[in-house]
Amino acid sequence: MSTSWTTDRMPDCTDKTVLVTGANSGLGFEATKSFAAKGATIIMACRSLDRGQQAAAEIKTTVGESGATLNVRKCDLASLNSIATFTDSVTEDYDELDILCNNAGVMAIPRQETEDGFEKQLGVNHLGHFALTGQLLDLLLDSDGESRIVTHSSGAHEAGAMDFDDLHREQSYDKWEAYGQSKLANLLFAYELQRRFDANDITDTISVACHPGYAATNLQYRGPEESGSKIRLAMMKLANAVVAQPASKGVLPLLYAATVDGVDGGDYYGPSGFKNMRGPPEKQTSNDDSYDEQDAERLWKTSEELTGVSYSDSLT
Ligand SMILES: NC(=O)c1ccc[n+]([C@@H]2O[C@H](COP(=O)([O-])OP(=O)(O)OC[C@H]3O[C@@H](n4cnc5c(N)ncnc54)[C@H](OP(=O)(O)O)[C@@H]3O)[C@@H](O)[C@H]2O)c1
Repeated sequence: MSTSWTTDRMPDCTDKTVLVTGANSGLGFEATKSFAAKGATIIMACRSLDRGQQAAAEIKTTVGESGATLNVRKCDLASLNSIATFTDSVTEDYDELDILCNNAGVMAIPRQETEDGFEKQLGVNHLGHFALTGQLLDLLLDSDGESRIVTHSSGAHEAGAMDFDDLHREQSYDKWEAYGQSKLANLLFAYELQRRFDANDITDTISVACHPGYAATNLQYRGPEESGSKIRLAMMKLANAVVAQPASKGVLPLLYAATVDGVDGGDYYGPSGFKNMRGPPEKQTSNDDSYDEQDAERLWKTSEELTGVSYSDSLT
């Protein structure tokens, strides 16, 4: 743990293959830039190839000659079909995956459903990443040396509750409650995955979680834009300008969790400053609900049923 860690202290990544979801924007973009500066091979999983390629071009210009390779691929986490096509192509083309960053997300959007009929915040933020990770698990497990799965949650998990009777919020929808549920689901998943690694004596692949505090990104604008609320959009822009830390700082817990020696499976990292909304990364504890093993098992089983992706070949 460090209270002064910056990317200057990030280890060299020239021998690392890294996959970042939502790599074209905000924290995923900043993460990709930092991995690129350290020479990694990065698979940029983006729902828009155009936006992904624009981001890759910008990163190459900013980073210059670092030896990094950026490979932009389409992956829409709101479509199990797209995820399967993507993971098939990754497992075909790569022999190693050292770091998987489950980063992409949507926040506080009007109720929508994914292609497969999942409430979209749960569908993209949790179920999409559950399916993605399950289909990349053997690649992660078979990679030489240690591999890590880092899942991006949020302080908003504290306001979340799992409603297993109405997981897709069909009976009543509140955009913030649905976001909180999805971010709590991220943590239940990350910790349960680690418990399953432990139960299977797997020590060279670990699952960790993190949150960025409050970072100015496009995340805050999607909800107001999609609901056509100019007032909420203006308020979010003001808050991003005045209160938020830059995305380059908000990404530090993720980069720390993904690369630093001494990070353990099941750890949770976030910013150490004011109300854990800003500042350098430190190891933290998430709320009690996120460590609830019964909820985690129930969510795991439900996620396997909903996505059709089973981890049981690799994990009991
Ligand atoms: N910013 C914060 O203060 C904050 C706080 C707590 C947690 N987080 C978490 O941090 C993560 C990254 O968010 P951010 O702040 O960097 O937001 P962002 O700038 O909006 O980036 C989100 C990324 O997710 C992608 N995405 C959205 N829907 C997708 C889908 N269906 N399939 C694949 N990718 C999709 C977006 O792609 P497009 O560009 O194509 O839309 C974008 O690349 C999220 O998990 C979020 O919950 C952020």
